[in-house]
Amino acid sequence: MQYRTLGKAGMNVSLASFGTGGPSQFGQHKGLEQQQQTALIRRCLDLGVNLFDTHEGYGSSERILGEALRGVPRDSYHLVTKWAYHRNGGVGQDAAALAASVERSLERLGTEYIDVMMLHGILAAEYDAVVERFMPTLERLQEQGKIGFKGFSTRYIADPAQEVLPVALRTHPALWDVIMVKYGILNQIAANEALPLALEHNIGVLNMASVRIKLPNPSLLEELIAEWKDKGYIARESLPTRDPLGWLVHNDVDSVVSAAYKFAADHPAIGSVITGTSTIAHLDANIAALERPRLPKADSARLKRLFGHIAEYA
Ligand SMILES: NC(=O)c1ccc[n+]([C@@H]2O[C@H](COP(=O)([O-])OP(=O)(O)OC[C@H]3O[C@@H](n4cnc5c(N)ncnc54)[C@H](OP(=O)(O)O)[C@@H]3O)[C@@H](O)[C@H]2O)c1
Repeated sequence: MQYRTLGKAGMNVSLASFGTGGPSQFGQHKGLEQQQQTALIRRCLDLGVNLFDTHEGYGSSERILGEALRGVPRDSYHLVTKWAYHRNGGVGQDAAALAASVERSLERLGTEYIDVMMLHGILAAEYDAVVERFMPTLERLQEQGKIGFKGFSTRYIADPAQEVLPVALRTHPALWDVIMVKYGILNQIAANEALPLALEHNIGVLNMASVRIKLPNPSLLEELIAEWKDKGYIARESLPTRDPLGWLVHNDVDSVVSAAYKFAADHPAIGSVITGTSTIAHLDANIAALERPRLPKADSARLKRLFGHIAEYA
């Protein structure tokens, strides 16, 4: 496993990390049981994964993860969790709700501290109000040692351009230790401004949802590419109708999904790529993909030319 430093947080994090949300949500939708979820986590640890991402709202993920990590030395892994300030719509909740959520997360995860506590899904229009209302509480929790570092994630379904990133990183680069960003083959827009700003200010970047729904599903991917051709985002002749990204599979790139995880890691701002899977076979494949050499430069450059300008949810 390769390791990278997570910006000014200074954490030495595995390039591949494990996410307990996303479409797989730790296998909860498929009826996985604790024993299987524990096996996934133990496999992660065996392969050198040392960062686990969760959220108070990912079903029972926090509790399942806490159980899976029981008995594992606490200083051998990092925990990231989040709180959705917008659960009741807008910036509706008060700061006491954040503090209470952290207490519940600590209890469910069976830990005395959370390495990175994130405000989940900040929108640019709500950014100032969120900072004003919740930052003092995050700072107090940090002083109390209940959280190590402060961060936020973007709400890319509502905000596919992730406009909050440059707003936050230009306004308050000192406030944030770590951000969670969606950066992948079909979502490259963060590379324009946000990732360079993160590098400039030494803010750690965790890459979420870089594969997600379309890339592992050949027919959905074909539909998306056809739609983007219809909308004029990409030239009709630029990609074949069938298996439009099949050209990425050659030499040691064994699938489009492997190419996608490799692309997701291939930016100097990225500290770790979070993979969300419910199967050990996929976990092994994804970690192996991240261990192999980078995508060939020509393929990476072609992906940037094709999709670099598109800021749509995909
Ligand atoms: N803060 C936020 O707003 C936010 C938003 C999204 C995600 N996240 C975090 O980021 C993590 C990663 O995002 P994500 O879960 O969307 O993950 P992802 O890694 O981009 O994609 C996961 C999806 O790809 C499938 N997949 C994974 N490996 C595969 C393979 N080798 N072949 C075929 N299909 C494969 C998974 O299904 P299988 O189960 O079948 O493998 C799952 O449906 C989440 O778990 C969560 O912790 C945070």
